[in-house]
Amino acid sequence: MNRNYALEFVRVTEAAALASARLMGRGDEKAADHEAVEAMRMALNTIEFDGRVVIGEGERDEAPMLYIGEKVGKGTGTKLDLALDPLEGTTICAVGGNNALSVIAIAENGNFLHAPDTYMWKIAVGPDAKGSIDLNRTPLENLHSIAAAKKVSVDQLTVIILDRPRHQELIADVRAAGARIWLIGDGDVSAAIATARPGSGVDVLMGSGGAPEGVIAAAALRCLGGDFQGRLIFRNDAEKARARPMGITDFDKIYKMEDLARGNVMFCATGVTQGPFLNGVRFVKGGAFTHSIVMRSETGTIRHIEAEHRFETKPNYK
Ligand code: FBP
Repeated sequence: MNRNYALEFVRVTEAAALASARLMGRGDEKAADHEAVEAMRMALNTIEFDGRVVIGEGERDEAPMLYIGEKVGKGTGTKLDLALDPLEGTTICAVGGNNALSVIAIAENGNFLHAPDTYMWKIAVGPDAKGSIDLNRTPLENLHSIAAAKKVSVDQLTVIILDRPRHQELIADVRAAGARIWLIGDGDVSAAIATARPGSGVDVLMGSGGAPEGVIAAAALRCLGGDFQGRLIFRNDAEKARARPMGITDFDKIYKMEDLARGNVMFCATGVTQGPFLNGVRFVKGGAFTHSIVMRSETGTIRHIEAEHRFETKPNYK
């Protein structure tokens, strides 16, 4: 995969972040998401590649744009699969909270799991705990093995968990193990990335969130040298029936990071709202600043891109 694509695709997450950030704190999740989706699609279609959305805004009948299977790009050149979320953290953006992102992961044809829109039980860690996680084990066992890998005690670990009633038992288990907990309202992609960022104060992500977000997080952690495992959660037969055409037949399978995102992977994210490792969009007279990361699994290089956008000269994607 041509490494220059990484820089092409960061323009796409920048465009989506700039569009949705205008609606930060306005209380309208749908409008913020719509702006991000439209801007991302316009920007994608300016790039020379033959793209297919594998993880997107939903199935064709429920998402008018960036639906699963949609062809994007100019349609010429390299065939690439995209796992994207134009606005990860729609509620965060609507309330002006921390850590809303625009993200795209890119892989060669067929290298992302076609994940159904169900929940996924997830565990994610950074490079210093790679190889120490196993979803077959209890949270307590995982915490002990992560602590051993990091050469710290369990009470020095911070576990980031989505604040949901369904996580009551997990939270009780983590408390009983003696680890610290950081409960977040939304945004488990950014939480998974945080486990691999030095100084983030987060050691492990545990709990369930969207399966599509799980694939995106796995792609990010491949680039960051971290580790991730996920197990799909099916709440009923209808969800299983939706998964079968995507090639999923083993409903209890534990997906390792490489099962979710194989081969060479690139990852771009731009901050929409402020976060610990990405700044949100800051508007100034006649323009705006964005902060993005661009990463490649092949080299593990992590580029921070601070862009200064001038609206009077900016190509209009619309
Ligand atoms: P959206 O941007 O689609 O709103 O997703 C936000 C999010 O918090 C994800 O990060 C997470 O995977 C999922 O929602 C959790 O789902 P739920 O809110 O149903 O618990």
